[in-house]
Amino acid sequence: MRNDRAAAVSAQIAYELERDTHPEGFPTLPLIPKARYTSQEFFDLEMDHLWSKTWLVACRADEIAEKGQYRLFRRLGKEVVITRGVDGEVRAFHNACQHRGAPVVGSECGKANLLVCRYHSWCYDLTGRLIRVPEEHDFGEFDKAEHGLKKVACDVWDGWVFVNFAEDPVPLVEELGRVAEDLAPMTMGELRLKGRLHYRIKCNWKAALDAFLEAYHVNAIHPKTVATLLDGKGTAIGLLKGGHSRMALPKKRSAAGGTWGTDDYEKYDIEGVPEVFRANNCAYGVFPNFVTPVDSAGFPFVVFWPVSKGECECELIFVGAGPEEDTAETSEYWRTFVANYDVIQNEDFQFLEHIQASLESGAFDGLTLCHQERRIYWMHEEFDRRIGIDHIPAALRVAPVLEPFSES
Ligand code: FES
Ligand SMILES: [Fe+2]
Repeated sequence: MRNDRAAAVSAQIAYELERDTHPEGFPTLPLIPKARYTSQEFFDLEMDHLWSKTWLVACRADEIAEKGQYRLFRRLGKEVVITRGVDGEVRAFHNACQHRGAPVVGSECGKANLLVCRYHSWCYDLTGRLIRVPEEHDFGEFDKAEHGLKKVACDVWDGWVFVNFAEDPVPLVEELGRVAEDLAPMTMGELRLKGRLHYRIKCNWKAALDAFLEAYHVNAIHPKTVATLLDGKGTAIGLLKGGHSRMALPKKRSAAGGTWGTDDYEKYDIEGVPEVFRANNCAYGVFPNFVTPVDSAGFPFVVFWPVSKGECECELIFVGAGPEEDTAETSEYWRTFVANYDVIQNEDFQFLEHIQASLESGAFDGLTLCHQERRIYWMHEEFDRRIGIDHIPAALRVAPVLEPFSES
């Protein structure tokens, strides 16, 4: 993070710790219509105009470090093979053979020099080119060059592989904007995968994500965990272009200590992390579907995926420094680290099923958000910008009010 921005974060924390009145000039936020969380209509708008055109984090580059290694991305009703070619490039293809649509890859991950469809053995190279068709003469006028695997846009940012279903998306780093600038010192490209957690939750994906965009709930639902480590009163928020956001909570413990209660932190400390990320827990909200509470002790990407309008999945992908072979399966540090997160996640998820039931019923009308919850509202404003306001029925829109309070 640039020095002037780090100084602004510290100044805002000091201001928030003192503040006991509503910030002057900040608007009372309009109600978020509950149908944005419950209607098939809004879910379909998201599918058509959001998920189909946005960069989506898919996996770690170190999971496909070797030539020919691949991983399957199975989300949003799509199946995409992400693989590293012999030239070292990471590419993504729809997992659909261009003969009759059978998958060219059958397992979650693996390694292959060629992608061979198991139905009739059409064979593709790692650039997606069709290179062999058994009994090709039986296809008459047929050009293999026209039957390569369908490409999906793919890019790597600091060790994270993203895909985008748009034809010609803006470059990933451009879409990430200030998030990419701020997080450059975290050296994420040099970190390694340390573990994963996975949850399936019976609520709209945005209800689950909302729990990670505010610290208003910290004292109430995390009294023995997060609240002992971080001071929610001093929360500093930055609303960033593109629907992204930053939330910094000052640490209560010494900045040198492991944030999540692990003692062996020095061995795993990420070198060169600036003071702003040591003194505070800075959680970034990255549009549209993940948050990352970066920390020199290691940290996860917390990613949310819709399954249906009332059900979602949440995946935590942990990365960290230290010996490459140390992971949640082999080392006490990472096992404890991931287990502590699991406790906190379950605290965050405890009301979501009930919240969805309330949204579905006539029990309440929508979300009443306060100043501390403005990142949720900011995300909703961006949903409307991306979906296109003309596509959204008037009763489902949110009024854009936060632009003047965003970082320029
Ligand atoms: S469907 Fe793949 S070779 Fe026939
Ligand atoms: Fe929480």
